[in-house]
Amino acid sequence: MNELKIFSPATVANVSCGFDALGFALEHIGDEMVFRLSNTPGIRITKIEGANLSFDINENVVGVVAQAMLNRDYAHLGVDIEIYKNFKPGSGLGSSAASASGTAYALNELLERPFSMLEMTKFAMLGEEAACGSQIADNVSAALFGGFILVRSYDPLDIVKLPVPDQLYATVIHPQIEIKTKDARDVLNEHVSLKDATTQWANVGGLVSGLHSNNYDLISSSLQDVIVEPLRKQLIPHFDAVKTAAVHNGALGAGISGSGPTIFALSKGIDTAKKVAEAMDIVYKNTGIDYEIHVSKINTEGIKILDQK
Ligand code: HSE
Repeated sequence: MNELKIFSPATVANVSCGFDALGFALEHIGDEMVFRLSNTPGIRITKIEGANLSFDINENVVGVVAQAMLNRDYAHLGVDIEIYKNFKPGSGLGSSAASASGTAYALNELLERPFSMLEMTKFAMLGEEAACGSQIADNVSAALFGGFILVRSYDPLDIVKLPVPDQLYATVIHPQIEIKTKDARDVLNEHVSLKDATTQWANVGGLVSGLHSNNYDLISSSLQDVIVEPLRKQLIPHFDAVKTAAVHNGALGAGISGSGPTIFALSKGIDTAKKVAEAMDIVYKNTGIDYEIHVSKINTEGIKILDQK
């Protein structure tokens, strides 16, 4: 095999209480990429559709990740890459992570799987660093591992795959404005109070326990963020109205997806998730801001191979 076409999913990071530590993958929304391995050394991004991104391999996260991988014993090989972006950078849905993790996954396949999941995650984190200045693991590991993940430790890196209750659905509204992750990180405080930290880690424990025990009430009561959301929500137009509408229409909870501006809600069952989508639509339709709304089951598979030659 020397050619691979993949789908790399959009992801929701943080999931309210788990800043930089929790994430899950979505179905249907994501990037498609084509990778062709060759004996001509070098990395060439030959096509980018759907976003105005750099073809420079030192700037595009795809190039950064591919270089790091080929520099590990494969510098005699080359790769040609086509990128088809189906959602915008700066969305809060892990756009750079979809590209970075998709590259790590596809190159590993083409090189006949020399790298472990953790190694692929680390390569993808280099892409995140190129995109926003920090080696964040939540989006890239959600895309690579699929389902719901916990980044239990960054040093050493430890990713825990969590179970996904059968009836768990996400609704996401993506206002078509761009928030750079770096800017959304700059508004955060370096220090938090012991009281807020206690609330936050108790909720992470509650959410993880709720996922393990299919306890939707516990998932619901744990979807609280007292540290990050209060500082970031002012970057997102109509955040409170969307969140209130989602919860009033049956969502288990709602919050900022990653660094925003996308707002996510989790619901028990597709009917409720669709009702939440309608409620979000009502809030946004007269705002003058373009937006997209998606309802998705949690994608337990992660990155998918679409074609191989
Ligand atoms: N956990 C990261 C943040 C995700 O919230 O800044 C960035 O997409």
